[in-house]
Amino acid sequence: MDLKQHIREVPDFPKPGILFYDVSTLLAHPQAWKATVERLKDLVSAYKPDVLAGIESRGFLVAAPLALELGLGFHMVRKKGKLPGKTIPYTYDLEYGTDTIEVQDGAIEPGQRVVILDDLLATGGTLAAAVELVRKVGGEVTGAASIMELTFLKGRERLDIPFSSLIAYDD
Ligand code: PRP
Ligand code: MG
Repeated sequence: MDLKQHIREVPDFPKPGILFYDVSTLLAHPQAWKATVERLKDLVSAYKPDVLAGIESRGFLVAAPLALELGLGFHMVRKKGKLPGKTIPYTYDLEYGTDTIEVQDGAIEPGQRVVILDDLLATGGTLAAAVELVRKVGGEVTGAASIMELTFLKGRERLDIPFSSLIAYDD
């Protein structure tokens, strides 16, 4: 099955000149979504995780079924202020300003092998920040994976962990 055929391409979203790769059509197609999860399962299991982490919000769509498939728990990496109880923040630079992501205190145990999931790797800034956050709480990031990767943005070059994706866009 060619998964790329199930990703709708939306020109000029969210801004003029940007071509948006819409995962909605993949999620809506049961066979394509099943194949996506199965292929990711093979990639992720190679990283031998103890636990998964999903990046808000579209990363949750990926982490949740994989956690079930692999028989693992998963933790939410969320934007600041969304998680109850004590949280551990990590602040990172954007093109303009900064952003902060968090995990719940105690969610990831020191020394645990963690694989981080998202739907898309673009510049790699979001994933690189999630890697640093997991390390801040003592987790060992053994790998990361996404459905889509915008290879022309060279997000992989910002990562110091193994990374796999299923669908590459070269331009
Ligand atoms: C998108 C996408 C990735 C991130 C990739 O999320 O889902 O998480 O951007 O970009 P980067 O590699 O350049 O950091 P977005 O912030 O649009 O939010 P969402 O997942 O909540 O829709
Ligand atoms: Mg996202």
